[in-house]
Amino acid sequence: MDVLVFGAGSLGSLVGGLLAREHDVTLVGRDPHVATVRESGLRISGAVDETVTPDAATEPPAAADLAVVTVKTFDTPAAAAALAECDLDVVLSLQNGMGNEEELATSVSAPVLAGTCTYGARMVEPGHVECTGVGEVVLGAREGGQSDEADSVGVAFDAAGLDVTVATDMPRRLWEKLAVNCGINATTALARVENGALVDGPAGETARAAAREVAQVARDHGVDLSAMQATTAVSGVARTTAANTSSMAQDVQAGARTEIDAINGYVVANATDPVPVNETLTHLVRAWEIGQDLRDDGP
Ligand code: PAF
Repeated sequence: MDVLVFGAGSLGSLVGGLLAREHDVTLVGRDPHVATVRESGLRISGAVDETVTPDAATEPPAAADLAVVTVKTFDTPAAAAALAECDLDVVLSLQNGMGNEEELATSVSAPVLAGTCTYGARMVEPGHVECTGVGEVVLGAREGGQSDEADSVGVAFDAAGLDVTVATDMPRRLWEKLAVNCGINATTALARVENGALVDGPAGETARAAAREVAQVARDHGVDLSAMQATTAVSGVARTTAANTSSMAQDVQAGARTEIDAINGYVVANATDPVPVNETLTHLVRAWEIGQDLRDDGP
């Protein structure tokens, strides 16, 4: 299968690198990472240890069987515009936050699948990504139900050795992953700890309280997600990615804009009852972004 991975950051490079064991993969991202991968291949270390040789470019190729989108949520409109120019059979969003699939579907004519990914990834240096936790990819039709496209993408991921589940209940899965990100990302970014600190430590209670609020908002939107399912998912991902620095903690370490608006901020914006834990986490991360001149909607 010809696979284009749009967004060769840490997670995109890891997923694309693993897919390159079996498929013809093009990683689309920025230099110097892309130039290094083109010249010397992509080294994967950590829980997986191998060097693979995907193609790599700063612009997407004209056509591919599958496009996997891994950019940050605030770059989804740009990804949608770029992919609108490609001849694609199917698109899969493997991004954090909500609303990405709808945004892609406004520009791309191929079917857009929803996906979640709990693999942990860290960019060590250009051309080298570390797998800090073997998680799971879950994918399926974004509105739920069976999908032939999802079945074939599942077969392709499985053939490359990724842990993949094809699900018929993606709306619930997306809310569950949102609970995981709401619990883990801002908490680890603010406390400057790795995900494993949330398994037993004091920040873990904050993470689980945020997840319980997400489950309540999900149920208010007609999605069957219990508080127990949400907190169990947070603790489970914190355990399996214990050595991982979450994507938001990596953004804060790098002085880069975070996905707070599409994660805890999304929950605050879509809640009908108070969600004080998510609101506090959102305010604190936004305050940090304002202090770094990464956003200008401060007081
Ligand atoms: O954003 C992240 O870091 C990841 O989605 C996850 C699963 C929380 C692991 O760190």
